[in-house]
Amino acid sequence: MNLKIAVLPGDGIGPEVTEQAVKVLDAIAQNYNHKFNYSYADVGAIAIDNHNDPLPKSTLDLCKSTDAILFGAIGDPKYDNNPSAKVRPEQGLLKLRKELELFANIRPVKAYDKLLKKSPLKKSIIKGTDISIYRELTGGLYFGEKKISDDGNTASDLCTYTRLEIERIAHLAFKAARKRRHKVTLVDKANVLESSRLWRKVVTEVGKEYSDVELAFLFVDNAAMQMILNPTQFDVILTENLFGDIISDEASVIGGSIGLLASASVGKKYAMFEPIHGSYPQATGKGIANPVASILSAAMLLDHFDLKDEASMIRKAVDKSLHLQITTPDLNQKYDNVTTSKVGDFIEDFINNPEDSNLNFSNIYLGQSTII
Ligand code: IPM
Ligand code: MN
Repeated sequence: MNLKIAVLPGDGIGPEVTEQAVKVLDAIAQNYNHKFNYSYADVGAIAIDNHNDPLPKSTLDLCKSTDAILFGAIGDPKYDNNPSAKVRPEQGLLKLRKELELFANIRPVKAYDKLLKKSPLKKSIIKGTDISIYRELTGGLYFGEKKISDDGNTASDLCTYTRLEIERIAHLAFKAARKRRHKVTLVDKANVLESSRLWRKVVTEVGKEYSDVELAFLFVDNAAMQMILNPTQFDVILTENLFGDIISDEASVIGGSIGLLASASVGKKYAMFEPIHGSYPQATGKGIANPVASILSAAMLLDHFDLKDEASMIRKAVDKSLHLQITTPDLNQKYDNVTTSKVGDFIEDFINNPEDSNLNFSNIYLGQSTII
């Protein structure tokens, strides 16, 4: 398969983790006879620096002309503590989601057996967790009308949802549940919010078309508690934009590191693949950023094009790296100084030699490939 991929490394650790994902995609292309062509463009703080715009038109045009987008991370501390900044890196990502109508953000959350003790939560609680969060991505408070009064003392953000916006992601969530454990949990705040009551009504109606899928409801405050009390009760979680943002960061604690969580943002026409983590500015350039979320985002990209064997090969390689504890310092490490790019090297090497039972990390560790 020939794929044109727009690579938007972004800010902070974005470039270094994305580099590993591209490395891994190249290994897949080589071993499975595909051609992946990459075009790079700026987004976020780097785009503000270089083009005075967090999403330059050239970047948007590139994204619209490619088959898929691989996104790194966005954000720079120089904007975080300046509430009056008119231009912010995050606007680049939000505009990209909106312009490309990437209305569904899919975030898988899994407890890896090997990493159970890395989570601050009890093993017995998190073991077996396997959740797919369907977060609505182009509506709600993020995109509603924003106001600030002339005296600067009153502000508001409007939360609006239409039936159509709810229906389209609900269908995706129910379809996903059919391929999983046949359960959808709608997370809302229908005891207080009118928009949530519309979600409940519409999702209940859509659910009638999927009678083989159980539909459960949870208020978001209770869902936040259930996520750390009994996460194995969840299969597919369906929720609006802001609740999904919050609940997915919370869920990442189950996996042991936010550096493991990948995501796919899909619409009718375009698809973008991005780690859920941010730009982690303190770690930039130190080689300590975990590339797995970006690498697993690349696996989701392959899934999107139905390259199932290829995607599962990446997951197998990631599993192996976790099993052998060839990881960055956010996880259990067996070896010192395993850098971002060494993790990428190992995963690349595994893809090249999956049958090599002698796969010996010490070679990579010493800077030599296991390929002879
Ligand atoms: C995410 C991020 C973004 C969001 C930020 C960077 C705008 O936190 O993808 O979860 O809030 O959606
Ligand atoms: Mn977030």
